Parts: sequence; C-alpha cells; structure tokens
Amino acid sequence: MAGRIPQDFINDLIDRSDIVEIVSSRIQLKKAGREYKACCPFHGEKTPSFTVSPDKGFYHCFGCGAHGTAVGFLMEHDQLEFVEAVEELASLNGVDVPRETSASAGPVSPTAPLYELLDKAAKLFRDQLRDNPAAVDYLKKRGLDGETAARFLIGYAPAGWDFLLKRFGADDAGRDRLLKTGLVLRNEDGKVYDRFRERIMFPIRDSRGRMVGFGGRVLGQGEPKYLNSPETPVFHKGRELYGLYEARKINRKLDNLIVVEGYMDVVALACHDINNAVATLGTATTPEHLQRLFRATNEIIFCFDGDRAGRDAAWRALQVTLPELREGRQVRFLFLPDGQDPDSLVRDQGAAEFRRQLDNSMPLSEYLLDHLKAATDLSSMDGQARLAELARPLVNRIPEGIYRELLLDRLAQEVGLAPRRLGQLLEDPDAGETPQAGIGTMPDRAAGRSRPGHLRQAIKLVLHKPSAATGLALPEGLTTLRKPGITLLLALLETAAAKPDIKAARLADTLRDHPDGGQHLETLLMQDIPLGDASDWAAQLRATLEAIMHEEREQRINDLTSKANAGLSDAEKRELQALLSGQHST
Ligand code: GTP
Ligand code: MN
Repeated sequence: MAGRIPQDFINDLIDRSDIVEIVSSRIQLKKAGREYKACCPFHGEKTPSFTVSPDKGFYHCFGCGAHGTAVGFLMEHDQLEFVEAVEELASLNGVDVPRETSASAGPVSPTAPLYELLDKAAKLFRDQLRDNPAAVDYLKKRGLDGETAARFLIGYAPAGWDFLLKRFGADDAGRDRLLKTGLVLRNEDGKVYDRFRERIMFPIRDSRGRMVGFGGRVLGQGEPKYLNSPETPVFHKGRELYGLYEARKINRKLDNLIVVEGYMDVVALACHDINNAVATLGTATTPEHLQRLFRATNEIIFCFDGDRAGRDAAWRALQVTLPELREGRQVRFLFLPDGQDPDSLVRDQGAAEFRRQLDNSMPLSEYLLDHLKAATDLSSMDGQARLAELARPLVNRIPEGIYRELLLDRLAQEVGLAPRRLGQLLEDPDAGETPQAGIGTMPDRAAGRSRPGHLRQAIKLVLHKPSAATGLALPEGLTTLRKPGITLLLALLETAAAKPDIKAARLADTLRDHPDGGQHLETLLMQDIPLGDASDWAAQLRATLEAIMHEEREQRINDLTSKANAGLSDAEKRELQALLSGQHST
C-alpha cells in the first residue's frame, strides 16, 4: 500500500479500460459514427460538444477543452484524487493495484505505518471481545449478531491504561506512531496512556477499506457515551462515513444509501439485513460527505430523529445537499417519531416496517416547500414576497438545469403565482430599485430586465475559458471599480492568467471561499454561455470587460446629470465633462 503505482500498470489499465462504458455509466452518450457524443458534464451547454472516442480511449470537449483518459474522467467527474481514480478503474477491471516495493521505489508514504498500526489495533480489539463476557453480553442485549459484529470488525478496548501502549509503544518511534493515530494521548505531566478503555470499539474504514479511526461506546451508562478518534493525518470526520465501505463491499451498485446518526443505527440495521446505512461521525453532514455519497449512489435518504435537534440537522443537511442536486439524483428525508432512532425502530417494529417508512419518506422538494410555507403566510402579497425571499438563496444553490426548473414550477404552483412572476420576485426583490443585479442572482430569468449582467458574463467567461485571461490588458479603471463581484472577477483573472491550463472546476474551487461572491462560482460554472462565435474567447472577454466599464460610465453620467439641478461641485463638473467627451475617468 505504501509504494508508488508502477507507470506500466497505469498505462495497461488505461489501455484495457472501456472509456465508453465508464463515461456512459455516468452521463448519457449517443453514438455518432465511430464516436459518442453528449452534452459536456464539465460546462453548461445545450448542444453536445463532448466526444468520447473508444479507439483513442479519450474524451474531449470542443466547448470547454476538457479532455483526458478514463483516469482523467474519473478524477474530474467523480472528483477523485489520481490514486483513487486509478484504484476505482482497477476495481472496475477486477484487478488489484500493485505497488512498487520501497527498495525499488521512492520514499514510502508517511501515513502508511499509521494505517498499519490502526489495522493491528482493530484486530486486537476484536480479539479482546471474545475474552470479555460483559462486552459480549452488552452487544447481545442490543441485539447484535456475531456475523454482523465480524463484518464491522466490532471489538472491545479492555480496562487499563496501557493495553495498546504495552504492545506498540515499547520505543520512541512506536509511541510516536501511536500518538499520531490518536490511539494514545499524552497528559500535562508527559504521561502517555491509551485513549480507549472499557469501550465497545467501532472501527472506521475509509472508502478503500483502510483503517482510519475508531468510535468507542461505554458499556451501559457513563460519560462521554461515545468517544471518537481525534482528527489525524489519516482521519477526517468531515469526510468519512461510518459503514460506507462495508455497504459497498456487500453491494457495489447501491440503489440508495440511508444516512443515519449513530454507529449503532448502522450496525442494527445491518443486523436486519438493511445493508445500505451510513452514519456521519457525530458531525453535521458536509459537502464532502455528499460528494462521497453521490459517488456511490444516486439516491440518498436522510434519516433523522423527529425531535427539534433532528429537524435542525435535517435542514442543515438539505442546505448542503442543494448544490449537488441534478437530474437523476434523488434525496429524501425520513423523520422518525420522537424518541425513536433507526436502531430502536427496527428492533421494535422490524425491517419491513422500517422499509415501509423509507418508501414513504419525503422528497427533498416537498420538505423544502413545507418548510418555507410554514414560515410564511401565503394569503397575503407580503407572504408571497417573503416566501420568494426565503426561497431565493436556496434555489440559487441548486445548479441550473431541469431539477431547478421543476422545483421552481412547483414552488410557483404552491404559492399561487405564475412561474414568471415568481421568477421576477426571485430575481430582484426590489424590482427597478437596484439596477445592478449581484452575480449570484438568477440569470436571464426575469423578462424585461434591462441589464445584461456584463460582470456575471465576464466571470463566466474566465471561469469557462481561463486561458482567455492570458496576457489580457485590463481596461483602465476596472481595478478600482467599486461594485459587488468586481474583486472576485479580478481574483479570477489573476488566477487564470497565472495558470492558463487550470480546469474550470478547479478555478471555481480555488476561489470558492472568496468573500465577494465566491460561493456562486459553482452555480455559474453550470450555466451556459451565450456566445455567438466561441472561437475567440479572449476577444469576448475583452469586450465584456469594456462593457462593464462603459456601463459604469453611463451610470455615473446619469447620476451626475440628475444631480446637476441640485448643483455639482467643480470636481463633479469636470468629471461629467470628461465623461461626456468620452475620456476615461476614474
Ligand atoms: P446508542 O445509545 O448507543 O444507541 O447511541 P445512539 O447512536 O442512539 O446515540 P446518540 O443518538 O446519542 O448519538 C448519535 C451519534 O452521535 C453517535 O453515534 C456518536 O457518533 C455521536 N455521539 C453521541 N454521544 C456522543 C458523545 O458523548 N461524544 C461524542 N464525541 N459523540 C457522541
Ligand atoms: Mn440509539
């Protein structure tokens, strides 16, 4: 696991992989002669310019320039790291990934010994379970069967302060490794001791089955009820999902995944032959969780307690989910009766009843609408406007496409507005008052909007064609313009100019946290660019930047002329004169 993957292996793997099969299992391809075509999954478009060539083992998009092999496609599309993509491809081909031994290859990965140590610890804990009748008893009382316990490698950390320390911490290097895995801690006096004692151990494996951490539960009462491994170089709570590896091991083609709150929920469901449950590790659902989940399946069912905390968690999960929604993906919510969790429910009422509840769970759209309706009084005009206001930030998180259109139609229906009127409300709450729409508002939806949104268009252009920013001379005054989105545009131009080869998705990702609207980049990435002639992107970009400046000058002229009656200062008069004579002015 430590060594490098031999290049020959990767080449062979790419040669023997069927790129058409890989791509077509993710997007719909149409045969066109010797090749296949589709609308490009990496940029928004309505006519297909994405081509897959089985002969060349290659994909290429004439629209955005995305191209590569099966490995590249998996990296871009499934958002995998290189090694993950190679491993995915290997597993599709039913082969193991060989690693060069450390003698023949470069340096061994620094995390390899940590995985190894965690793995050994898990096995020791598992063996301990047999020798601790109290622990076995506890699990039996909770209804756990031996087969499931073995499948999840459930174990027991015995009493005492040095169970692991004795075995793996004899020398400094060993102790150091233990500390790095979080299996032992050091107190203020410098004393080192085992973290997990007298606890049922739930080993956590990453998507490739490597041991990365543990959750430990007290037997019966005690605080804290659960203890988790800390964040370590190999364990990130915001990324891992308990049970995902085990679910995929049983079934690679999962119809859906159920997201529950606890370790015991996952395991209890598995005991009842519901083998597609996963749990976050005592944290809220993160975007990374969502991406992992959607890599494994197209349907997610969030299962939350019916209490207040569960409802809050569900609403947060919905918000994180919105950017991941698209055609073919489904998200549902199941709210359990107060006081029940999946573990207790399946035990009290059986798997059939639990499945029935899953079938009756609420589609995301319904949950969203219910939630919004509950917060507004729709019988009044104010209520409709307020609902639109509440819906706007949510709807804007959904990538443009059929899913969003359908949701908007439903929303319009629910609130009793024509879709077009709702579109206007969503677009611009104070219609007419603020001429400049921010970059995050919905594009080109409201009829009769006067401004074409040059700034947004410029951002989209750079985003879709970073190389267009190469060697670009910015129009005078652009860098000092004060207007929402402008510093984001400048940051994009700068990044793109420095890295003309950067992929659109990465560019968006790099600036995702930019305070001037970076969170909208992902949405803009999905939108089409209305371009007459796509051959000269740089010229388009230049023209668009000029248009921003032009618009800005017009605006300023308007402001100054309408103020002229009230009297302008000398400086303002000079400025107006310069503007009217067509000179650039700042
Ligand atoms: P059981 O009582 O064993 O059925 O646990 P549960 O899963 O029903 O418990 P609960 O709903 O209280 O907790 C759900 C999840 O939150 C657990 O699986 C843990 O991941 C996490 N959790 C619960 N209690 C604690 C705690 O005391 N500390 C930490 N760090 N996490 C906890
Ligand atoms: Mn429980």
